[in-house]
Amino acid sequence: MIGLTKLLPWKALKKHHAAVSKLHIKDIIKKRSVEFDGIYFDYSRHRVTDETLDLFRGLLEEVRLKTHIDAMFSGEKINTTEDRPALHSALRNRSSRPIMVDGKNVMEDINVVLARMRAFAGSVREGKIKNIVSIGIGGSALGPAMAYEALKGYSDRKLTVRFIGNIDPADFYENTRDLDPAETLFTIASKTFTTDETLTNAKRAKDWMTGELGETSVSERLVALSANEKEAVKFGIKPELIFPLWDWVGGRYSLMGAIGLPVMIAIGWENFKAILEGAHSVDNHFYQAKFSENIPMIMAVLDVWYNNFFGAETHAILPYSAYLHRLPAYLQQADMESSGKSVDKDGSVVNYSTGPIIWGEPGTNGQHSFYQLLHQGTRLVPVDFIGFREPSVGDGAQWARSHHQKLLANMIAQSRALAFGRENAKEPHRNFPGNRPSTTILLPKLTPYTLGQLIALYEHKIFAQGIIWNIDSFDQWGVELGKDLAKELLPAVKEGDLVALLGTSR
Ligand code: F6P
Repeated sequence: MIGLTKLLPWKALKKHHAAVSKLHIKDIIKKRSVEFDGIYFDYSRHRVTDETLDLFRGLLEEVRLKTHIDAMFSGEKINTTEDRPALHSALRNRSSRPIMVDGKNVMEDINVVLARMRAFAGSVREGKIKNIVSIGIGGSALGPAMAYEALKGYSDRKLTVRFIGNIDPADFYENTRDLDPAETLFTIASKTFTTDETLTNAKRAKDWMTGELGETSVSERLVALSANEKEAVKFGIKPELIFPLWDWVGGRYSLMGAIGLPVMIAIGWENFKAILEGAHSVDNHFYQAKFSENIPMIMAVLDVWYNNFFGAETHAILPYSAYLHRLPAYLQQADMESSGKSVDKDGSVVNYSTGPIIWGEPGTNGQHSFYQLLHQGTRLVPVDFIGFREPSVGDGAQWARSHHQKLLANMIAQSRALAFGRENAKEPHRNFPGNRPSTTILLPKLTPYTLGQLIALYEHKIFAQGIIWNIDSFDQWGVELGKDLAKELLPAVKEGDLVALLGTSR
């Protein structure tokens, strides 16, 4: 594609921005929302006009977003630097549509693995295992940990489910110190089965159990979730306890396949299936809906608007749900590993900014921490509020309803305060300038289905942005250098002179 900044719609957006940036949300606000499958997506409180959205529609046509969506869903090798498709949508394809990769219908393999996971999860839930400890990092941990935390209310409370990712010995120690090896199952989640942190912790898990249980029973308690069956077998995992994924699923998109096994064990097959169904519904929406009704596309262009035209450097994710406390961390990887690129698909260094810094905390906790900066700081921080009409707990009890009403009142108050502010000319420190944009995603209730919807909304937003920025959203070469250097440095670290390795030493 010719450089993004040379495209006519981009140039027009730049000119248009000069005018819109002088306007205040309170003067241009208009009801803008999309309702889809229970999702109420409100994007009224933004620094946009009809013309902004029209220009972005033109931009999406110019970059041929629809063609790229087709390519992704049909299994084309859109991850060009790794020569792979990006088929996370196949993991939750609940239709009978075949999806072909290199002449093979991958739905057959997916359904076999899901059936194996289902049988295994069922047997664990009915058996003597009381603790599930999942070892994995990055996409092999953030997704399952986030989903488990989000859906704790649906989990079997007799099970203890923990996640170990960090190579810091404290992570292993704290997550195992009170567990009985005889009642513990380790799932070792690593797409590549070569990740040092995971293999180091997995080796420790083996040693931790061997002393008590002996080699044979240990092998009953180690499960691998991996695309590298050979290495998993070499590590000592029994072939029947290896649940495969495939190279056409990116690590950060792998929750809905084998990597999700700990979640399936915790919440059961029916609930796990509902996650897939929610995501599948949003996949269809992204595929079919026209721009004005397409939530991920609108999310994508709004973020590009602030990122590239207003110069916003960060984007806050603010779920008004305590159960979603790991969602910002999960989306940090999904978004920043996908969009943190400065070379485009043609190998040229880009002359525009790409992915923003993603951060956030659940409301209302964040309100008593960093919202000061959101309201009165010098930076523009676009915000996503995520809320639920109904509480997740309480079974209709009055106390829970009343907490929840306060939670929602806070969420809506924050988006109002950000947009409209409150003038106080006499006391400038009490002045709220407003004109700070936010989106609100309102869902019926936090359920496996709505969690699946949320995940897919963000995945597709990230994809659409990657198409606009002309970057490969599915590779992650930026993590390699640090890994290589850590390997190189280890012998010197073992010698102990840390100070000699710092400063000017290379
Ligand atoms: O460090 C980057 C990364 O490759 C992520 O993309 C991935 O999710 C994580 O490491 C873990 O990789 P694996 O699942 O292969 O252990």
